[in-house]
Parts: sequence; C-alpha cells; structure tokens
Amino acid sequence: MDPISSSPHVLIFPLPLQGPIKCMLKLSECLCLAGLEVTFLNTVHYHHRLLSCTDIQSHFARYPRFRFETIADGLTEDNPRTGDRVMELFDGLEAMTKPLFREMLTSGSLSSESRRPVTCIIVDAMLIFALDVAEQVGIPLFYFDTISPCGLWTYFCLPKLIDAGELPFKGNDLDAPIKSVQGMEGFLRQRDLPSFCRASDLTDYQLKFAMMEIQQVPRARGLILNTFKELDEPFLSQMRSLCPNLYPIGPIHTHLKTRLNAEPTLPPPSSTSLWQEDQSCMIWLNAQPFKSVIYISIGSLSMMTSNQLMEFWHGLVNSGHRFLWVRRPNSIVGENRVGPIPKELLEATKERGCIVSWAPQEDVLAHPAVGGFLTHSGWNSTLESMVEGVPMLCWPSFVDQHVNSRFVSEVWKLGIDMKDTCDRVVIEKMVKDLMDVRRDEFLQSAERLAKLAKQSVSEGGSSFCNLKCLIEDIIRLM
Ligand code: UDX
Repeated sequence: MDPISSSPHVLIFPLPLQGPIKCMLKLSECLCLAGLEVTFLNTVHYHHRLLSCTDIQSHFARYPRFRFETIADGLTEDNPRTGDRVMELFDGLEAMTKPLFREMLTSGSLSSESRRPVTCIIVDAMLIFALDVAEQVGIPLFYFDTISPCGLWTYFCLPKLIDAGELPFKGNDLDAPIKSVQGMEGFLRQRDLPSFCRASDLTDYQLKFAMMEIQQVPRARGLILNTFKELDEPFLSQMRSLCPNLYPIGPIHTHLKTRLNAEPTLPPPSSTSLWQEDQSCMIWLNAQPFKSVIYISIGSLSMMTSNQLMEFWHGLVNSGHRFLWVRRPNSIVGENRVGPIPKELLEATKERGCIVSWAPQEDVLAHPAVGGFLTHSGWNSTLESMVEGVPMLCWPSFVDQHVNSRFVSEVWKLGIDMKDTCDRVVIEKMVKDLMDVRRDEFLQSAERLAKLAKQSVSEGGSSFCNLKCLIEDIIRLM
C-alpha cells in the first residue's frame, strides 16, 4: 500500500488565542513527524499575525502533507481582540465561524470531493459547536482542552458545587473552604475556583459556557490534555470515568525539543508568537548573573490597570532585584492616564531592568540568569516554567489561572500565590521571598518536577506513550 495515500488526514482547529494556537501548532508538528497529513485551520486575523511575526510558513514547508487553511472569526478587523473583549470572540465564532466550518466540511475546501477526506478533527474544547458539525458530517472528533486539568476538573465539578449549595458563593469570605471538588478538599477556597464562580448568580455567561463545555466533552471520541501523568494523575483518573479515551500528552512544547536533542539534524522549533519577539532581552540576560533576574509576564490576554502597573513597578524596584518585564501592547487599562513616572523608578529600571513588548518566553525561562517568574498562571506559562525548573510568583486574572496558582503554592510547592493582592509592599516582600528567602525550598520541588516533565516526553515516558497511542488510534480510524 502506498504509505502516503494510507496516512490519515487530521484537521486541527485551535481556539483563536495565543495559548491554544501554540499548543495546536506543536501537536500538528508532532503528527507531521509521525507521517500524518495535517490541515491547520486558523482564523484569518491570527493567521496573518502568525505569518508576520514568525517564520512558521517556511518551517512547516518541510512537511509536504501539512497545510494552513483560514476561516473568519466573525469580528471586524478593527476589533482589538483584547482579553477584556474575549466574549465578543465567542459570539463571533458562534454567529459566523460555525456555519462557515460546516460549509467547509460539507461542500467547501475540506469536503471529500475537493480533497482527501478528513479522517478526524482535533479542536479546542471551547469550540463546542464543532462536535455537532462533526457528528452531522460523520467525522470523529477529539477535543484538546488546553487549559489546566486541575482547572478543568473544577469545571466538571460545577454541577456538584451548585447541588451542594456552594455556588453561587454565600457570604463574602473568599477564604471559605470548598468541599465539593473531589480531590481538592482541604486546600481549595472560594477564591481559588475559576474566576467566573465569583458571579453573583448562575446566569453568568462564562459559567454557562463552562457548563456547556463539560456536557459536550464526554461525547467526543477522546480528550487530549496538555499535562503529564506524574503531575495530574488524581484528576486524570477521575476524568477517565467521564472520558475514557484520555490522552495526557504534555508538556506539548517539550516533545519537539526532546526529539531535537536526540536527532540534532532536525530544525529547531519555530516561534509561534502572535507578537514580534524582541530578541534584545536575550542579549540583556546574557549580561546578568546566575538566577538573578525575575521575569514578569501576564500572558496574551490578562490586563492590569495603570494603578496596578505602578504598584508592580514600585514593588519590583524596592525588592532590589533585576527584572525582565514584558509589557504587551494594550495590556494596561488606562495607559494614557499613567502620570509622570517617578525618577527613582526610571533610574532603577535603567540600572537593573529590561522592558520589552513581547519576549521569546521559552528561551527566557531556560536562560541561566532567570531565577523566578512573576506570572498570571496561564497554563502554558505554568508548564513552561515548570519544565525549566523556575519558581513562580502567581498573580492570576481569570478562568483556570486561580486554580493553577493555588496548585503552584499548595500542591506542587513551586512558588507563592499572590492572588487578589496588588500592593507594592506585598510585591516587594514576595519577590524577596521567591528570589532569596524561600528560594532553596522552591528550587527543590522545581528541579524534581522539571525532571519528571522531561522524562514524560522522552522515549518510553508517559506522555511519549500517550502521544503514540493517540497517533495509533487516529490511524485505526481510517
Ligand atoms: C489563556 C488563559 O489566560 C489561560 O488561563 C489558559 O490557561 C490558557 O489560555 P494566555 O494568557 O495566553 O492563556 O497564557 P498562557 O497559557 O500562559 O500562554 C501564553 C503563551 O504566550 C505562552 O506559551 C508563552 O510562552 C507565550 N508568551 C508570552 C511569549 O512567547 N512571549 C511573551 O512575552 C509572553
């Protein structure tokens, strides 16, 4: 049999946001390396950004059976697509992308009349509409949930929380313990649940969306997760009772790097950034002492107010530590209202700081000069930090980030949870704790988990085997 015509064709469709696009591109490359045909469906807006900020097109040109396709996201081109307007994106996807997706699969560019039939679809679990479309056209669908499994498990427990009367919250004590999330009793508080649980009633849009997501996920052929068995087994075994075909294949960004170590002739992984990476920070890092720098980034969607910006800035400067700070364009609410910057902040920043608008984050975290990460606890950032053994100071904004930061501090012992606080005195103290006072304690756990993470994607490791199993299951669908 001709091996080319006998290989499956996988359609990959990420949620159009930085984190999911990155995860799905990494997965696409893993599948291409296994000889599968892959179509990567990206929204028009983000596809243009990806092409203008990276060399992704030439990187994937080496895989003759890979191709990009694009689809509209239902937003006007002048929509800023910022974190505070993310719900507009979901409305746009439902109103415009869903019918276009159906049309693409039934009579358009992905229908079997126009090209090789699609064997299966892998979509982000938040694109819940895709399952109905897939069922209508008779194509098996796998969900890839790119948020954290501990966060996802709290979604699965939402009905229990409601039945037990723990949701909506009673009273104003966000430190009140939560009892109805199996496996998290004893350390989960109201403030650690996903941000939308703070809504005053059950009609909240995001809460309803999460409930729809968990109803839909078990109907899929399988659920792919960006984690490794050794990290999340308690939740994975509980999820398996709802979704038996579970594939924990993470940390997804580490597979290609591990493979590159074993086969140095492979090209280095491509950037997947939707903003232009400023490489000058790597030169700056080269001149800094070992583990002396705290890296600050709040990811691709989180925002801070101009007040919070000043609290962070003072806290960082007063800690006396060196810092590399990503200030993403449009990430400061009311930036134009930031008054004159005090001279001592500007001088200290010039002396021991570096500010960029977007950094090559994985390289930054792997740099020997970086000793800590002040993060918004997005799941990709958390895993990237974990793989490099970098302790974290967590300042979560929304969705799973509140759960992740609690796990970082209470379960994995990788750092400090600073949620719901933004005060220069606290920031100064916590930066000092992270970088000096409690550094050895965090480094011990960080080194242990980094080793486990890397082992999981190495030949014979749990995620290596689960990825192989996913590929075999896809091949069996033909
Ligand atoms: C969103 C949600 O906020 C998060 O809770 C969920 O877990 C995933 O989706 P996002 O804000 O995109 O996350 O954060 P994260 O998941 O951490 O992903 C950000 C990605 O951007 C990381 O892979 C990181 O390496 C990359 N990044 C960030 C850069 O490459 N450069 C930067 O300067 C900042």
